[in-house]
Amino acid sequence: MSEKNILINNINVFAEETAASKAVAMQIKQAIEEKQSLGQPIILGLATGNTPKLVYHELVNMHKNEGLSFENVITFNLDEYYPMAPSHQLSYHNFMNMHLFSQVNILPENIHIPHGQWKAEELIEKCEDYERKIQELGGIDIQLLGIGRNGHIGFNEPGSTSDTRTRLIDLHEITRNDAAADFEGLHNVPYQAITMGIQTIMSAKKILLLALGDRKSVIIHKALTGEITANVPASYLRILPQIEFVLDAEAAVLINT
Ligand code: F6R
Repeated sequence: MSEKNILINNINVFAEETAASKAVAMQIKQAIEEKQSLGQPIILGLATGNTPKLVYHELVNMHKNEGLSFENVITFNLDEYYPMAPSHQLSYHNFMNMHLFSQVNILPENIHIPHGQWKAEELIEKCEDYERKIQELGGIDIQLLGIGRNGHIGFNEPGSTSDTRTRLIDLHEITRNDAAADFEGLHNVPYQAITMGIQTIMSAKKILLLALGDRKSVIIHKALTGEITANVPASYLRILPQIEFVLDAEAAVLINT
């Protein structure tokens, strides 16, 4: 099969963002329930940012209205700013609590997020622990991803190679600029973050990359049709059998599906 065929088979385009987000939430729900019927936990890799907000909203609705239980759900978040206090309004700890964890019945001990206050001298060990925990649980069943306008996944900025694991990384100018409004000024945006690596992400059994809106159309076109390169980390994903790109029509506008 040619690369192009693989690519086209793994793209799912929806007319608008709500439908795309609902489809992603539905896949996650079905996977949670499948594992429940087997009496097993499910390991979810989770993202923050604007893109997954509607997915989390849907999952919360499914919990409240359809009885979807999160008791068997174990989560590992992709990333966290560094340094960053978990109690900070813009921390990814706070984001996840607000949008998902505080609204469902997930067990607090099942939540894992890189810690923005890990001590510098312990960072390497803590990052290795994070990887070890994922592996000991049997790996990530479903990894939810967004995509940065520079092609980053997690905070794997351009230059991140396919063998990278959880680590501290310098944030790219585009990433910091995109966060500037939330932080009320570029000078307030952290310069670094802890992120799962490309290898960590690629080891997931299923990967759902969600991209919404026309501001993602150029990078989606590049990641799906350009060179596979560390300069566009998301480009590594498209040759994987377990990837699914879930797009709304605006994000997909430059690709022919
Ligand atoms: C967030 C993350 C990032 C975002 C990306 C897109 O945990 O890992 O890769 O997915 O920066 O951000 P939004 O969704 O805000 O456009």
